[in-house]
Amino acid sequence: MKKLLIANWKMNPESIAEAKNLFMDVKKVASRLNGVETVIAPPYIFLAELRRLYTGKRVMFAGQDVFWEEKGAFTGEISPSMLKNIGVSYVIVGHSERRALGESDEIVNQKVLASARAGLRAVVCIGESTRDHTDGAHLIFLAGQVESALAGLGGKMLSRIAIAYEPIWAIGKSAEDAMRPFELHETVLLIRKTLARKYGKAHAMRVPVLYGGSVEKENTLSLLTDGAVNGFLVGHASLSGPKFNDILRVAHSA
Ligand code: PGA
Repeated sequence: MKKLLIANWKMNPESIAEAKNLFMDVKKVASRLNGVETVIAPPYIFLAELRRLYTGKRVMFAGQDVFWEEKGAFTGEISPSMLKNIGVSYVIVGHSERRALGESDEIVNQKVLASARAGLRAVVCIGESTRDHTDGAHLIFLAGQVESALAGLGGKMLSRIAIAYEPIWAIGKSAEDAMRPFELHETVLLIRKTLARKYGKAHAMRVPVLYGGSVEKENTLSLLTDGAVNGFLVGHASLSGPKFNDILRVAHSA
């Protein structure tokens, strides 16, 4: 499986000129690396224009969110088919910053199903807000988040899913505060077991499981190899071309 590296720009940058500069910086490196699939998730308003700057296959695009209906009277929303029709292939669903704004497990599930139906790959974000090592409650919570996000999704659609595990306590900090690789490994096994219970082991092993939360160049290699993930969802470090490119290079050579 190719490593999957997703740049989640969140609500940045402020202008299309800056967005283009950042994209061109990343494209230069990403388009030369055959071992990683690079996905850029800019704000909606920049998506179509950035998409036009690239015609190759190594850099893909993602929406940061999506609505679950195809079209109609839903002011302010963007549908999966709109994303698909401008050449977007991924969509982030259920990011903790959206859940904090009120997005429920049911809404996440509807968005996942609608995205998969439209032919997008949904990057389903899960993550606990705190961790109590004594009782393992976070593991039960995470398994529940996976199950509810994928409720009603048939095995044939599983190739349209990636899981991004993002512990909320580790988001937006620095490499020293990110999760330790051995703890990540335990969580990745739990996610795969949860998928295997529903879809069988062979199918479960083909779902990319990513980590997000203070990924920087310094922890890229250890999280990839000892954490046993298939890639990353990168926030703040993806807003600097040189920093994100360093992460791409490390992932490529891992
Ligand atoms: P971070 O963000 O890399 O800045 O921690 C990750 C995310 O929220 O997707």
